[in-house]
Amino acid sequence: MTAKTNATSSLLALRWGTDAADAAFTGLSGILFGSTTLSTTALLLLASLFFLLLQLRSETHKKFSPAAAPPLPPGPLPWPIVGNLPELFINKPSFRWILGLMKELNANIACIRLGNVHIIPVNCPEIAREFLKKQDALFASRPITMGTQYSSRGFLSIAVAPWGDQWKKMRRVVASEVITPARLRWLLDKRVEEADNLIRYIFNQCNSSNSKLNGTMAARAAGGVVDVRVAVRQYSGNVIRKMMFNKRYFGQGSPDGGPGAEEIEHVDALFTVLSLLYAFCVSDYMPCLRWLDLNGHEKIMKKAIRIVNKYHDPIIDDRIKKWRGCGKDVFSSATKKEPQDLLDVLISAKDTDGKPLLSSEEIKAQTADLIYAAVDNPSNAVEWALAEMINQPEILRKAVEEIDSVVGNLRLVQESDFPRLNYVKACAREAFRLHPIAPFNLPHVSNADSTVAGYFIPKGSHVLLSRIGLGRNPKVWDEPLRFKPERHLQLDNGRAEATAAEVELVEPDLRFISFSTGRRGCMGAALGSAMTVMLLARLLQGFSWQVPPGLSQIDLSESTNDLFLAKPLRAFAKPRLPMHLYTQTTNN
Ligand code: HEM
Repeated sequence: MTAKTNATSSLLALRWGTDAADAAFTGLSGILFGSTTLSTTALLLLASLFFLLLQLRSETHKKFSPAAAPPLPPGPLPWPIVGNLPELFINKPSFRWILGLMKELNANIACIRLGNVHIIPVNCPEIAREFLKKQDALFASRPITMGTQYSSRGFLSIAVAPWGDQWKKMRRVVASEVITPARLRWLLDKRVEEADNLIRYIFNQCNSSNSKLNGTMAARAAGGVVDVRVAVRQYSGNVIRKMMFNKRYFGQGSPDGGPGAEEIEHVDALFTVLSLLYAFCVSDYMPCLRWLDLNGHEKIMKKAIRIVNKYHDPIIDDRIKKWRGCGKDVFSSATKKEPQDLLDVLISAKDTDGKPLLSSEEIKAQTADLIYAAVDNPSNAVEWALAEMINQPEILRKAVEEIDSVVGNLRLVQESDFPRLNYVKACAREAFRLHPIAPFNLPHVSNADSTVAGYFIPKGSHVLLSRIGLGRNPKVWDEPLRFKPERHLQLDNGRAEATAAEVELVEPDLRFISFSTGRRGCMGAALGSAMTVMLLARLLQGFSWQVPPGLSQIDLSESTNDLFLAKPLRAFAKPRLPMHLYTQTTNN
């Protein structure tokens, strides 16, 4: 109630400017305390205008659901022209406001108007399936936003491009040449190298608090407190850099296997870009306001993109020169060069006339697109999974026991072990359900008017499947807020133990969102699953994990402005394998 009153008065201030709002209140005090006729007239005028706007507001809402069509989904009444942008601007973070509205309305689907765009958040799997399975073709576009324009160099790459020829071209090239099962097998060694480096790096972070032992093998064996967030984010960055550019480091790196300043800057910039792609920026709904950069997003975005390009562009330009020479493919004739990584694959892709299929801008945009896509989900899921498991040692114990029985302790987990690591995969799957990287799936935009779940969905609507609303939905999940991997295992005579059915991280029925489904579904589900399971399995196999000394529990609070752990996970790691297994990679 208080929030609403505050919002109304701030709205007044926003819609009329502070002076006008002050005038309204001066007028009010004038009436109360017997002031001039002028202020009374001003107040009356203001009040009439306010009521006129309210009237217009409900007319605006009606206008969008034609008489013959079913109604729009429920939602707040929009103001003329701006829709619910004022509320969006006032109530931060926007996603919590939207989810709160849905709760207030007790709605599975809602409609919020921003400018003249209808935002359609969805909470329930049946309706989600109607959008992405039954009517998938209708909802296969993406919105144009300031953030995605920068990230994709003007919509040249797949993930954020609107439906159309460019999206089809890039998706075809990537599906047939880049992220194929054969390519994944081809790049297995590079992924293994990074998984080995991960445990070498964490091993080197272990350092006993006993200063006499500092830096020795004995100190490492005694264990130490590790910044898990840095380790998991850098692992994801390393894997995709290695697959894309055939290198872990842009600079010298760090001798302990950890990131150098360049990799820290790179990964931070990637996360910044990702956070601003669909960040409810006011100008995405009222492009005429873009020059004002009201949220300040554009300035931040430009800086982050400059950093990403600073690292990617010289490598790509250099490689294109090597492959194509002065307009010629220098490797095509006598010295037939074989691609060494995914960048080579993108550059060497040919059309039916044998000409390069992708321009340099397309290669740059698509390279960045794949790097953005790979870096955030695996690291976030594993950081949360480990935090939850440390607080529930029984789950941790079961997962480690599974690894010990399938892999043993004389060698490290390999991708070929995954089919038999069902409990570990159930832990990762549970992390995707309960702790998604983002509140909503990537937006899907409708290409035509339609009816879904009995509601009118106008052409151009932005459909937002709520990852929280689905994954934590009490009508779908028993004890939805509890981290309970057993829920993903096939029950064998009532016992929660893995049976023959293999656990997978995909969830095509949309009871939660991991890789989503349909025409715009994730292209990297196999790679994303492999990265996530390897990351979690290696952490569990390589170290025993505990709460840091002096604490009783890991603090599982979720950040207010996003869905990351509010405090980056720091935990006590103690090596549990023969020492030589931690030192088998080199610094390259
Ligand atoms: C655990 C890791 C990952 C998760 C959970 C994940 C999840 C998703 C989700 C939810 C979408 C949006 C689907 C939709 O719009 O309905 C998506 C799109 C996409 N993902 Fe992934 N992803 C992961 C890893 C990767 C990797 C490693 C790649 C490739 C290197 C990749 C490539 C893509 C692409 C290209 C799209 C856009 C598809 C399109 O718009 O046509 N993803 N991903």
